[in-house]
Parts: sequence; structure tokens; C-alpha cells
Amino acid sequence: MATMKTVRMKVNGVTHESEVEPRTTLVDFLRGPLALTGTHVGCEHGVCGACTILVDGRTARSCLMLAVQADGAEITTVEGLATPEGLHPIQQAFIEEHGLQCGFCTPGFLMSLVELLSENPDPSDAEIKDVLGGQICRCTGYQSILKSVHSAIAKLRTAGVAAQPPLA
Ligand code: FES
Ligand code: FES
Repeated sequence: MATMKTVRMKVNGVTHESEVEPRTTLVDFLRGPLALTGTHVGCEHGVCGACTILVDGRTARSCLMLAVQADGAEITTVEGLATPEGLHPIQQAFIEEHGLQCGFCTPGFLMSLVELLSENPDPSDAEIKDVLGGQICRCTGYQSILKSVHSAIAKLRTAGVAAQPPLA
């Protein structure tokens, strides 16, 4: 039996402290003990982007991180985007503009776009495509995803809100 390590991290605003095996990946920790299954596992080697989350406000492939590496970090997963008032504007835009079909890739796209639109609320198409290129979708086609991003930009501008709320 491997020596267990204690990890403590804030996930979607809630602090969790758990014992984990040092080899446990962050995505397995989120999906297993924390039951946050919105973060998906595709390739498990950093290529597809399905497991993308925010770690201290920056995107990370959670299949490439160990849970112990996130000790002390502040994590946001797709479950942290919606509020009691409703879906995040980027989520709403994906629904309205058909930015998803099966939805397997969608959490990764959403988290990458939260980072992009937080840093640059008015990106060019080239800048958007650069981010979309880091995420693999096997069924939607990227045109509707691009339309969704444009819609999300407009929604955020109209609402006058940042894509990513400041970390607590
Ligand atoms: S599952 Fe992590 S990048 Fe594909
Ligand atoms: S919506 Fe199915 S993989 Fe992207």
C-alpha cells in the first residue's frame, strides 16, 4: 500500500482535505473522491483538452497533474461556472449557437474560453482559433463553436461581467 499524502485544495469555492496516493492524477481525484465528473478524461496524455480546468486561474490539463501538485491551489471546474442565477454566459452561448453535440469535449472548451475571455474580452478570430486549436472536438465542427464564442463575447459585454470572477 502506497504511503498516503494529505492534500488540501479549494475547488469551486469549497475547501477539501483528503488523503491520496501520490500517483493519483488530479482529474481522477476530482472525478473520484470529489465526484466532480464534469471534467472529462479523453486521451490521458495532454492532447485532447477534455480534462482542462483552471488552477489558480490558469488552464491546466488535469490528466497531466498529480493531485499532490495541486496542494494549496484554487481549482475551478466546469461545475463552478454556473451560479444559482443561471448558466455562465459562455455556457448559454454554446447552447444557443449549437456549440456542442455529444458534449464530451465541451467542459474543456468552456474552461479554455473562460481563461481567454478573462485575459482578452475582445479577441480576434486568430486568437480565438489559437485557443480552440488546443481542444479536440470530434463531432460538432468548429464553425458553431466559433459562433458560440462570438455570442459569448457579446453576452459578457452586454452584462458587463468578467468571464472569470476574481479568486477568493
Ligand atoms: S484527457 Fe487530458 S488532455 Fe486529453
Ligand atoms: S461535442 Fe462531441 S466531441 Fe465535441
